[in-house]
Amino acid sequence: MSKITTVQQHILDEERLHPTATGDFTQLLTSLIVAAKIISREVNKAGLVKILGETDNVNVHGEVVMKLDEFAQQTIYRAMGDCGHLCVMASEESENIIPIPDGGKRGRYVLMFDPLDGSSNIDVNASIGTIFSIHRKVTDQEDGCEVDCLQHGWKQLAAGYFIYGSSTMMVYTTGNGVHGFTLDPSLGEFLLSHERITTPPRGRIYSINEGNATKWDLGTRRYIEHVKEDRKERGHPYSLRYIGSLVADFHRNLLKGGIFLYPGPKGKLRLLYEANPLAMVAEQAGGSATTGNMRILDVEPTSLHQRVPLIIGSREDVAEYERFYKESTGAAAD
Ligand code: AHG
Ligand code: MN
Ligand code: MN
Repeated sequence: MSKITTVQQHILDEERLHPTATGDFTQLLTSLIVAAKIISREVNKAGLVKILGETDNVNVHGEVVMKLDEFAQQTIYRAMGDCGHLCVMASEESENIIPIPDGGKRGRYVLMFDPLDGSSNIDVNASIGTIFSIHRKVTDQEDGCEVDCLQHGWKQLAAGYFIYGSSTMMVYTTGNGVHGFTLDPSLGEFLLSHERITTPPRGRIYSINEGNATKWDLGTRRYIEHVKEDRKERGHPYSLRYIGSLVADFHRNLLKGGIFLYPGPKGKLRLLYEANPLAMVAEQAGGSATTGNMRILDVEPTSLHQRVPLIIGSREDVAEYERFYKESTGAAAD
C-alpha cells in the first residue's frame, strides 16, 4: 500500500534538503496551490457559470483575453500578492511587471506565470493549465523590478504547472527531480501520484501545428519528413498528437516520451512564462529543450514578453531535431 503524501508534505521534505531554508518557499508554493484549487474549481464548472467566452479586451500579444484567462490572472494575484514572500510578479497577461500591493510585506522571491495556458481550448473542454516559474530576487531594493524577472532559465529555483484535465494535477521541480500530484476534490488535497517522473529518452509522438508547415525552416521540414518515414528499425513512423494546449501536449509527452515543436524563426511561445519553466521540468525529468540553436535555459532574457522557438521533450528526439536543424541552417547559410 503506497504511503499518502500531500504536496505540502513533499514541499516541506524538499525544503529540508536546503539547510538554509526558512519555510518561506513552502509558504509561497502553498499560496500558489490555493490559487490553483480555485482556478480548477471554476474551470470544472466553467460551462455553468457564464465564465466562458471572451472579454472585450486584447492582451499585450494582440490576443483576445478569455474570461477564464482574466479570472485565473486575478485569482493568482489575489492569492500571491499578500503572501509576503514575493518582491515582484510578472504574467503573460500583464504588459508590465506586477508590483506587490502597497503595504504588503515584500519577500525575496519572484513569481512569473502563464495564468491560463491553452485559452483557445477553454470553450471546448480540452485540457488547459497554469505554468509557473520562481526565481530569487537579485536586486537590492525591497521592491523587485524587471531585472529580477529577466533572469536566465538555469537560475530558476522552482518551476512547474497545473493541468486542468480529466483530473487536476500539479507537476513541479525544485531541482531535485520532477514530481506529480493529483487533486482529490473530495479532500481538496493534491496527493503524490507520480513520484520522480522521468521521460523516456526517445518517444514515438511528435506534436506540431502542421498548419504552419509552409512557414517552417528547412531543418524543421526535413525533421518532420524524417519522423514520418516508415523506418521500422528506429521506431518510425511517429504519431502526431497536438491538442493546442502547451501544458497538455507537454504533459502527455513527458509521461509517454516524444517531442513538442513550436519552431521559429521567432516562435510564438513566451520564454519567461512557458519555455523556461517547462524546460526546467523537462531537463529535471531527463529530457531537454532547445531553440534549435541553443539550450532554452541559456537564452538571454531581454524583455518580459520575449518569444522563442521551443523544441522540447525526449532527449534523443530533441538531439535528432538539433542535428537536422543545424545541418540545414548550415546548408542554408552556405
Ligand atoms: P496561451 O493560451 O497561454 O496563449 O497559450 C497558447 C499557446 C500554447 O498553449 C499552445 O501550444 C500554442 O499556443 C498553440 O498555438 P497554435 O494554435 O498556433 O498552434
Ligand atoms: Mn500559454
Ligand atoms: Mn495564457
